[in-house]
Amino acid sequence: SMLVRSSSPVKQALLRRGFASESVPHRKVVILGAAGGIGQPLSLLMKLNPLISSLSLYDIANTPGVAADVGHINTRSEVCGYMGDDDLGKALEGADLVIIPAGVPRKPGMTRDDLFNINAGIVKNLSIAIAKYCPQALVNMISNPVNSTVPIAAEIFKKAGTYDEKKLFGVTTLDVVRAKTFYAGKANVPVAEVNVPVVGGHAGITILPLFSQASPQANLSDDLIKALTKRTQDGGTEVVEAKAGKGSATLSMAYAGALFADACLKGLNGVPDVVECSFVQSTITELPFFASKVRLGKNGVEEVLDLGPLSDFEKEGLEALKAELKSSIDKGIKFANQ
Ligand code: NAD
Ligand code: LMR
Repeated sequence: SMLVRSSSPVKQALLRRGFASESVPHRKVVILGAAGGIGQPLSLLMKLNPLISSLSLYDIANTPGVAADVGHINTRSEVCGYMGDDDLGKALEGADLVIIPAGVPRKPGMTRDDLFNINAGIVKNLSIAIAKYCPQALVNMISNPVNSTVPIAAEIFKKAGTYDEKKLFGVTTLDVVRAKTFYAGKANVPVAEVNVPVVGGHAGITILPLFSQASPQANLSDDLIKALTKRTQDGGTEVVEAKAGKGSATLSMAYAGALFADACLKGLNGVPDVVECSFVQSTITELPFFASKVRLGKNGVEEVLDLGPLSDFEKEGLEALKAELKSSIDKGIKFANQ
């Protein structure tokens, strides 16, 4: 690899002899729900990530096939497949990062909150296992409704005495990915250069893209900004409707999940200035959890960045989202404590 080639002869010798090297730490990443629509392409993308030494793929079904398949790819990580409750502890042991795309997806006509009844229980049980087998790991929560599943995990970890607010993340990267794509299309700027923070939560109007802070800046009309905001908020529904009953976003989500996991790993490895949006415990508004830009570091969240200057339209959006976001958070907290 590049890392080995560019390191000193001493380091190379150490690496050849199997000693841990500062530049390539061992990292175990676990995917819970690895055989699903998101889980499979996410497993593929994580197998391509050179920061990972051990890739643990867990699901209640079909993981042996996914693990055998992905495991033949000639990249750094060792792949292990685990299936069923009895295997969950082994899958999680020693994890640095656990990614959770386990749970049912939406069908047309459903809101993300309609998934609560099934997914809350799944997330609760997986969180109990994380607290038991890898309490130090960072957790990337993808399962919906994220606005509730993150508070559920937090409450479960509190009960177990393992909660560290720096280590629990709701994955909102897909909202950022969409905002960048849609903005680039209208602003006529190269999409690879675009940055747009997306704050709030991950459902409908709780998704608040801050196009006033987009870079490169473009002079878009108020109507266009409104339309871009709405399209970003409805991005998930756009895919659910296009898939017409066959699930929700999986490929773009796998991309977004891989991007966010990579940022978490870079943070763990001490790479400076890694900043991504995520739904985390927060004091930047009166809500106990909120998505905003977060600086990632060796312990997870290093700093929750504040919202920065908002346009009047964004200020209205912020006030409008608080009631729904609060009730989704409260619903998760209540479920975990009942
Ligand atoms: P899917 O049905 O294709 O896959 C889900 C997988 O989870 C299945 O393989 C299933 O066997 C597994 N599973 C169920 N219970 C489990 C358990 N207890 N332990 C481990 N695995 C379990 O669904 P999908 O399309 O991959 O979506 C998964 C979740 O991700 C949904 O809740 C969806 O709403 C959510 N999602 C979130 C975002 C986001 O931006 N955060 C984006 C897309 C989808
Ligand atoms: C998304 O934003 O694509 C996901 O939250 C899935 C969904 O139900 O929309």
